[in-house]
Amino acid sequence: CEWQEGQPSKQRLLVVANRLPVSAVRKGEDSWQLEISVGGLVSALLGVKEFDARWIGWAGVNVPDSVGQKALTKALAEKRCIPVFLDEEIVHQYYNGYCNNILWPLFHYLGLPQEDRLATTRSFQSQFDAYKKANQMFADVVNEHYEDGDVVWCHDYHLMFLPKCLKEHNSKMKVGWFLHTPFPSSEIHRTLPSLDQKLLRSVLAADLVGFHTYDYARHFVSACTRILGLEGTPEGVEDQGKLTRVAAFPIGIDSDRFIRALELPQVQEHMKELKERFAGRKVMLGVDRLDMIKGIPQKILAFEKFLEENLNWRDKVVLLQIAVPTRTDVPEYQKLTSQVHEIVGRINGRFGTLTAVPIHHLDRSLDFHALCALYAVTDVSSCYILRDGMNLVSYEFVACQASKKGVLILSEFAGAAQSLGAGAILVNPWNITEVAASIGYALNMPADEREKRHHHNFMHVTTHTSQEWAATFVSELNDTIVEAQLRTRQ
Ligand code: G6P
Repeated sequence: CEWQEGQPSKQRLLVVANRLPVSAVRKGEDSWQLEISVGGLVSALLGVKEFDARWIGWAGVNVPDSVGQKALTKALAEKRCIPVFLDEEIVHQYYNGYCNNILWPLFHYLGLPQEDRLATTRSFQSQFDAYKKANQMFADVVNEHYEDGDVVWCHDYHLMFLPKCLKEHNSKMKVGWFLHTPFPSSEIHRTLPSLDQKLLRSVLAADLVGFHTYDYARHFVSACTRILGLEGTPEGVEDQGKLTRVAAFPIGIDSDRFIRALELPQVQEHMKELKERFAGRKVMLGVDRLDMIKGIPQKILAFEKFLEENLNWRDKVVLLQIAVPTRTDVPEYQKLTSQVHEIVGRINGRFGTLTAVPIHHLDRSLDFHALCALYAVTDVSSCYILRDGMNLVSYEFVACQASKKGVLILSEFAGAAQSLGAGAILVNPWNITEVAASIGYALNMPADEREKRHHHNFMHVTTHTSQEWAATFVSELNDTIVEAQLRTRQ
């Protein structure tokens, strides 16, 4: 975990996110094992090294006793992480409930969970109260560790109340808020009954509000104008003379980390094994959290359609799907897991032989080196998610493809479509006929076209890195505050 490398001569930065970059597993009364967390936010922020940074967040575990809390706090301090302890009830209502059962699907245009719409509507208020309470708990930990001059950078949909809590405590605190998901059209936002105003107003307490794309930023400004009746300006949103700056800051990855890893002997060895294992077959790869926004069932159905229509490819291509379990206490995610298993089993039964199956589906994450090797031997990366704030898997794939120059098939509904669109094959993930045709096109693509497309994407991924993203956001936040001070003096 490179996050632990502190740089005391640099600006102090408090990163506040629901999840820490490490998750804790209890090994004894006062002993803990720390494992790296998964997800786009962690993968991007681990690459940020320009600041003297600390990360405040939840360690993903309930620790009711003070002995355990003390020991975990100490273990995390070595990684420059500071825990927020959330009890089971809060996690149930705030994290499983309001964040992942309500905000997450709505922000990705998937609507409320189908089977329990009424139940969800009824539990709105108690989950919202827990959400506010949890945000205040994060604010308390920030206040405890804050030093004058620190930049406080709040992340994601879990912490929309945080900017307000922080500013109410200390109006001079420099506060930025960044959303890692799409920000949907104001019409979607309006369906959060009566709560929408509170969330938007709270975010506006920040000095700078950032999104991955210009579209998301525009949706946010129009939600503020339509729902709150405020004025949208080219710089952001204005409320009674106070300007909240709103802008797009497309995230990237630490591409060098991936490129360097490919040179390591253990990664090379792993690549050799994979090449031998899949000799004579083209490799298609999907790496996703097992989440409804990732469209894994749709992806597999499109692959089935491709096999149906292309008899000659049946034993010449394999789809490796890494589906990392996530939010396993949320019923929608449990249903999705069973659904995916059922479809994979059916297709393997239908097209498999005694010696090979068309889909290898793994319900777990891979370590970093195994993942890099897998990216490097892949011929076609299948990133046709239903909706995604950015989708850094597509960036990671491109970073590892300098020698193979494989093809990226990317959803037009991923933020990454705006940056990698010219090099990728863009598809509508809901249209499995179109996706199946694109698979054929990708597998047959001539080398010169692959090379041209890869070059475009590789240039982008290696020049728009997570370091640059963080530095730009923080410097914009500093500038915004100086400008605001100048305006007040005038
Ligand atoms: C997305 C969100 C992150 C979240 C990650 C993993 O990338 O934007 O905030 O941490 O998913 O989800 P989890 O619920 O396991 O933290």
